[in-house]
Amino acid sequence: MVSSRSRLVQPSVTFGLSAKAKTMKKQGIDVISFGIGEPDFHTPESVKQAARDAIDANKTGYTPSIGEPDLRQAIKDKLEKENGLTYELSQIAAGNGGKGVLYHIFLSLLDPSDEVVIITPYWVSYPEQVRLCGGVPVFVQCDPHTFAIDSEDLKAKVSAKTRIILINSPSNPCGVVYTEEQLRLVADLAQQHNSYILSDEVYEHFYYGEKPRSIASLHEDAYARTIIVNAVSKTYAMTGWRIGFVAAADKEVIAAYSRLQDHTQSNPCSIAQWAAVEAYTGSQDSVTVMRDAFRKRRDSMVQLLNAIPGLHCATPEGAFYCFPRYELAMPSLQLAEQLLEEAHVVVMPGEPFGLEGYLRLSYAVADEHIPAGIERLHAWFAAHPVI
Ligand SMILES: Cc1ncc(COP(=O)(O)O)c(C=O)c1O
Repeated sequence: MVSSRSRLVQPSVTFGLSAKAKTMKKQGIDVISFGIGEPDFHTPESVKQAARDAIDANKTGYTPSIGEPDLRQAIKDKLEKENGLTYELSQIAAGNGGKGVLYHIFLSLLDPSDEVVIITPYWVSYPEQVRLCGGVPVFVQCDPHTFAIDSEDLKAKVSAKTRIILINSPSNPCGVVYTEEQLRLVADLAQQHNSYILSDEVYEHFYYGEKPRSIASLHEDAYARTIIVNAVSKTYAMTGWRIGFVAAADKEVIAAYSRLQDHTQSNPCSIAQWAAVEAYTGSQDSVTVMRDAFRKRRDSMVQLLNAIPGLHCATPEGAFYCFPRYELAMPSLQLAEQLLEEAHVVVMPGEPFGLEGYLRLSYAVADEHIPAGIERLHAWFAAHPVI
């Protein structure tokens, strides 16, 4: 019998659909996928070279479990230069990708029944990680058209039981970038109820309007209670390298994080750490190239989706996903399965992201897949009109 803890976690819908798509591809079926949450670009050459150099220099042993000082220095410099935030090295720790870092933060901060306020729609792993760490996810509604935070609902959900208010801007799955006013409301409520703010900034470089601002940069109190999580995964097309980091003014948080990581994972891959140093300190041209490509693809995908009867897609301001609403009376998981089987297109259902009646499509895919894949969806929806 497996543990009750393991049974708290739902199986991943995304993995299920991707496995089915893989089987279909093996059978020779031409499947177009908008499912994946990673850039279709390769890791920059200079970053790959830094990894080869690290191997040749035998930088292959254990490192401090929260990362080489060189990596933490590179992260410190990045935070100063890009986010206007000053941290000491003792306020920064590296870990195994954004996901591994987030999990260890929840482990570090949550006691049984502590609440984590999560804004809908959200990245699928947040509630699962919170539950695994004994916490209780509390969901806040959003505007169904713009995905702006429902301020009244946020005010109602933050309380003395709130340990963390979690924000993710730009957001996966809906691409919303929170306005300064919204960030200020989050910061005010965190101050009133003395909670931490966890700011997941993994999509910070993928924005198509104004550059998103870190909530930690609003004012001194916000800086003091914010824990920033970021990673090289999306920014530098390095999803497989597994390097993420946490920065927090509260040194106790980093000390707790470090103690836990010592006994669970030790250091993230030493070679990947040296690659990440190059990513943060070397040329940033690859980021601009990706952002420009994603902007064009976003524009084309939004336009094509909105031409489909019964689909409504807000223009995402960041990340690399469209999150259209559909009018069919069908659960999103069933719709995604049907679209895979009948239109041979992979899309993610909205339900595991906390918003039923929506689909998530990644536009971090080859240019030509967008018109071809959306054309298939168009034909499918035209054959299934809303009655
Ligand atoms: C919002 C968000 N945060 C964190 C992560 C984790 O990124 P990684 O663990 O690959 O660094 C992802 C990945 O999909 C994400 O979408």
